[in-house]
Amino acid sequence: MKRFFLYIALIALLPGLSTRAGFLYAAGAKQQTAVAQKAAAPNPADFIGSDVCATCHADIAKKFGDNPHAKLALRHNGTGATCESCHGPGKAHVDSGGDATKIKQLSKLSPKDLDETCLGCHAGTHPNFLRSPHAKAGVSCTSCHSVHAGDTEAKLLKASQPQLCYQCHADQKAQFNMPIHHKVNEGLLKCSDCHDVHGTFLANNLRSTEDQNQVCTKCHTDVRGPFVFEHAPVRAEGCVTCHTPHGSQNPRLLNMPSIATLCNQCHSPLSAGGVHGLDPGSTTVTPCITCHTMIHGSNASQAFVR
Ligand code: HEC
Ligand code: HEC
Ligand code: HEC
Ligand code: HEC
Ligand code: HEC
Ligand code: HEC
Ligand code: HEC
Ligand code: HEC
Ligand code: HEC
Ligand code: HEC
Repeated sequence: MKRFFLYIALIALLPGLSTRAGFLYAAGAKQQTAVAQKAAAPNPADFIGSDVCATCHADIAKKFGDNPHAKLALRHNGTGATCESCHGPGKAHVDSGGDATKIKQLSKLSPKDLDETCLGCHAGTHPNFLRSPHAKAGVSCTSCHSVHAGDTEAKLLKASQPQLCYQCHADQKAQFNMPIHHKVNEGLLKCSDCHDVHGTFLANNLRSTEDQNQVCTKCHTDVRGPFVFEHAPVRAEGCVTCHTPHGSQNPRLLNMPSIATLCNQCHSPLSAGGVHGLDPGSTTVTPCITCHTMIHGSNASQAFVR
């Protein structure tokens, strides 16, 4: 059929051709537009209402009462198409006595088509999903949520955090078992405090705006600043320049076991004279932060010693 139209279209483009071919082409194009419009806006008469679905799918319909999507009906004066908002018009399916091929089987859609079905309503809350690492890897809405079997108390998730995430992120599971870690397993924090799995503008799905530190300083307000004397890397390169966010062997989640080595990545070699030379070996034996206590910034000392 497509080929036929293409053929006609090509002929129509040839100069000096009979008006009949041109007419045929125009008629074909008109017909195609009509088909496309029909697909975009289904016939209201093909929607039969969730009460009819309930006659055969009693278990699902009964469980649906406390589903957040039951609110869809309220938005249409209690008569809105609830089941069919996701599964599409159900008339053909019902008329056939339950032929599964005549209804949108969401469990059989490709991840992309499934996501688009959900985003039809949820694009406002999750506008960045389609370009998130999850969507790109084929992890779809129903990898984490289940409309009918999810936890209705907790955002319809298939499992609660962090177990949900650990099913696929084994490396992170190991990190949160390190001796020093953010207490995610203990329930004090959630993965979603720092990440928005539905996609953000930052790498690693991190929650934040322009300021990379914001995700950390949301809770650690004391290091947020601004300070009279800023320690450049805290602002410019962010907290992860010195800290590991998930878990570490090192105290204070530092990403190096020795503080001197951490500091000397950027400050080596220190001037031999002056304060660092008073006590031979002080810079290696005495941790830098013994003196430089206000390492995230200070309002009193340019050298962050108070
Ligand atoms: C006359 C009884 C009947 C009514 C009414 C009915 N269904 Fe079904 N439906 C069935 C039967 C039977 C099956 C199982 C078909 C199969 O397994 O091959 C089915 C299958 C389905 C499936 C596919 C299940 C799968 O395996 O993926 C969906 C989705 C579905 N129905 C949704 C609906 C919705 C939405 C409505 C209301 C618009 C509805 N049904 C109304 C009988 C019915
Ligand atoms: C918010 C979207 C949404 C709504 C509303 C919805 N469903 Fe579903 N339905 C799904 C998805 C997605 C699946 C695929 C399985 C899953 O994710 O739980 C599904 C699966 C099914 C199945 C296949 C059986 C199964 O568990 O796989 C049936 C039957 C069904 N739905 C019937 C209904 C009926 C009846 C209603 C109304 C009471 C309804 N659905 C409302 C999204 C929806
Ligand atoms: C027809 C519009 C529509 C479609 C399609 C739709 N949703 Fe919803 N969804 C809603 C509405 C409305 C709510 C209730 C929001 C509220 O409580 O204000 C909701 C709630 C939710 C919630 C729970 C939010 C909470 O705070 O508890 C999740 C999770 C969700 N939807 C996931 C999905 C998934 C996954 C799909 C695709 C399978 C989907 N939705 C398809 C309209 C829709
Ligand atoms: C990788 C897992 C994952 C995927 C994929 C995913 N979600 Fe979620 N979703 C979550 C988690 C976890 C939460 C709870 C966030 C929280 O508690 O802060 C959530 C919450 C929600 C909420 C409640 C509003 C909110 O932001 O708290 C809605 C609505 C929702 N998801 C819809 C969707 C839709 C639609 C898709 C697909 C386009 C999707 N989700 C894909 C894990 C996922
Ligand atoms: C305290 C905030 C925070 C929490 C809580 C958190 N993350 Fe992260 N996560 C980050 C930061 C920051 C990065 C980026 C690390 C970097 O840039 O080196 C990251 C990176 C990641 C990455 C990318 C790979 C990697 O390890 O660098 C994955 C995957 C990830 N996190 C998953 C998770 C999971 C799963 C959980 C919950 C079990 C979780 N995160 C909890 C802050 C957090
Ligand atoms: C069904 C498997 C699956 C589940 C469940 C899942 N993820 Fe993912 N996640 C992936 C895949 C696949 C990727 C993309 C490939 C990669 O970077 O590892 C990804 C990517 C990420 C990234 C970005 C990593 C980067 O390099 O940019 C973060 C952060 C992340 N996931 C966090 C989470 C969190 C938090 C949860 C739980 C709420 C979760 N994921 C649940 C499979 C999953
Ligand atoms: C230049 C390296 C560096 C950067 C960048 C950095 N920190 Fe630190 N941070 C440290 C060191 C060193 C310690 C250990 C201080 C101590 O033990 O007295 C520490 C300790 C901490 C502590 C433990 C509590 C405390 O105050 O002693 C928290 C919380 C913390 N940092 C949060 C952050 C946050 C949030 C950021 C980003 C805004 C950040 N850090 C950026 C080096 C850094
Ligand atoms: C949702 C709140 C929250 C966010 C966001 C957060 N933290 Fe924390 N952080 C905590 C809590 C609570 C503790 C104390 C846990 C405890 O008592 O063991 C902590 C502890 C720490 C410690 C001290 C660890 C120790 O045991 O010595 C450091 C360092 C730290 N966080 C750095 C960061 C960095 C870097 C980020 C951003 C990647 C960040 N935090 C994001 C809540 C948060
Ligand atoms: C990622 C690189 C980096 C790391 C790691 C780092 N710093 Fe800095 N630090 C800087 C930069 C850049 C400046 C600003 C230098 C300037 O303005 O001349 C600075 C400034 C300072 C200053 C003030 C110097 C002055 O002349 O005002 C002190 C003191 C200092 N850092 C101590 C430390 C200590 C102690 C550590 C380890 C806990 C550390 N720094 C880790 C990059 C770093
Ligand atoms: C015994 C206390 C003490 C220790 C330990 C110490 N500092 Fe200092 N440091 C100071 C004081 C005090 C100043 C300010 C000197 C001044 O104002 O002239 C200073 C100044 C600095 C400066 C800025 C001036 C310069 O010499 O470049 C840097 C950078 C610095 N320290 C880094 C470090 C690093 C890195 C370590 C650990 C390897 C460290 N300090 C260990 C007390 C100490």
